[in-house]
Amino acid sequence: MTLVAGPGPGVREVVVTELEMTAPGLLRPGRAPAVEATLVRAGRPAPELSRFFYRAVGGDWYWLDRLDWTYDQWRAWVGSPGHELWSCWVDGVPAGYAELDRQPGGDVELAYFGLLPGFAGLGLGGWLLTRAVERAWQVEGTRRVWVHTCDLDSPTALANYRARGFVPCGTTVEHRDVSAPSPGPWRGSR
Ligand SMILES: CC(C)(COP(=O)(O)OP(=O)(O)OC[C@H]1O[C@@H](n2cnc3c(N)ncnc32)[C@H](O)[C@@H]1OP(=O)(O)O)[C@@H](O)C(=O)NCCC(=O)NCCS
Repeated sequence: MTLVAGPGPGVREVVVTELEMTAPGLLRPGRAPAVEATLVRAGRPAPELSRFFYRAVGGDWYWLDRLDWTYDQWRAWVGSPGHELWSCWVDGVPAGYAELDRQPGGDVELAYFGLLPGFAGLGLGGWLLTRAVERAWQVEGTRRVWVHTCDLDSPTALANYRARGFVPCGTTVEHRDVSAPSPGPWRGSR
């Protein structure tokens, strides 16, 4: 999904929705997942882990912007002040992740969030989002938690944010080149 200047062949209008939560009491926790899951915070900057989840989670959903990032770019991202990576594990297997980004003025962005393809539909998405938002509110000085999603993300992404208490606070329209299918987490089929 490459960002382009305007309409053209293979180009699709993509609606990007920003959502926010302005008080911790607005969080509506998700149901308990159908599987036992563990959440682990990366205790040191882990560029490989961040890149792994970006590809494994976003491969089916046109997360293309960072595919050509260099090691130094990944290192700068995970090493930036206020960055946190939380990974979710089921039976010793990585199942999903959340990356938080503390920003000036008390904003915490849920910058990246999602599950690996085999873990959708088990109640993990609602649970993981609940844990990520709880953590965001624990960060000192948080006044607003926000996230953006677009209509190329999973069809249940927006519903999950709304179900947890996020409220839409803005939309923008971008033009994205979707002439090639999303490459998936793997080369070739899986
Ligand atoms: C979006 C995603 C996190 C949902 O995870 P999931 O484990 O399938 O979702 P859950 O079963 O926990 O359900 C969470 C919420 O999603 C919504 N949802 C789930 N399945 C749904 C369905 N079939 N129809 C409508 N809404 C649905 C509901 O709002 C639900 O909350 P509720 O049970 O309190 O009503 C997951 O599909 C995913 O990671 N997708 C790929 C990456 C992505 O799109 N990430 C978001 C980028 S912004």
